[in-house]
Amino acid sequence: MLSKNMEKALNAQVNWELYSSYFYLSMSSYFASVSLAGCAGWMRVQAQEELFHAIKIYDYINGRGGRAIMETIAKPPADWKSPLHVFEEVLAHEQKVTGLINSLVNLAVDERDHATNNFLQWFISEQVEEEASVGAVLEKFKLIGKDKSGLFAIDLELAKRVFNPPTP
Ligand code: FEO
Repeated sequence: MLSKNMEKALNAQVNWELYSSYFYLSMSSYFASVSLAGCAGWMRVQAQEELFHAIKIYDYINGRGGRAIMETIAKPPADWKSPLHVFEEVLAHEQKVTGLINSLVNLAVDERDHATNNFLQWFISEQVEEEASVGAVLEKFKLIGKDKSGLFAIDLELAKRVFNPPTP
């Protein structure tokens, strides 16, 4: 059984994950509007992964005797200065999420809630992967600068990403 405190904190994380999905969907639409279909597809997959994260926590809350509550999702930004700017914001967002997951683990440790701590370890590993993959894309955008052929090459590469539900 989850403590009320932990239930509330996990529900807040469900909302963050849903916001993340919404945020990346907005970025996907931005990329579609500037004819970068590969970047748009990459962001769409990212949005699907975030929805998966939200539902994973939702199921955990309900499975431990709590209740997942759907709160209002904040409106994400709709425009960015450049593809580089988008990926800078993605990395900053993922770093923020990593901090939130770490805080949840701290709470689980404080409450001696070993099951929740164990559940959250999947997210700890996932955040390491997410920061690394986003960081690698960001570095490519930094490398090409304003080179248009480089931009098209990155777009083609990002088009290869497909959604595979992460292994639990
Ligand atoms: Fe669900 Fe990208 O963190």
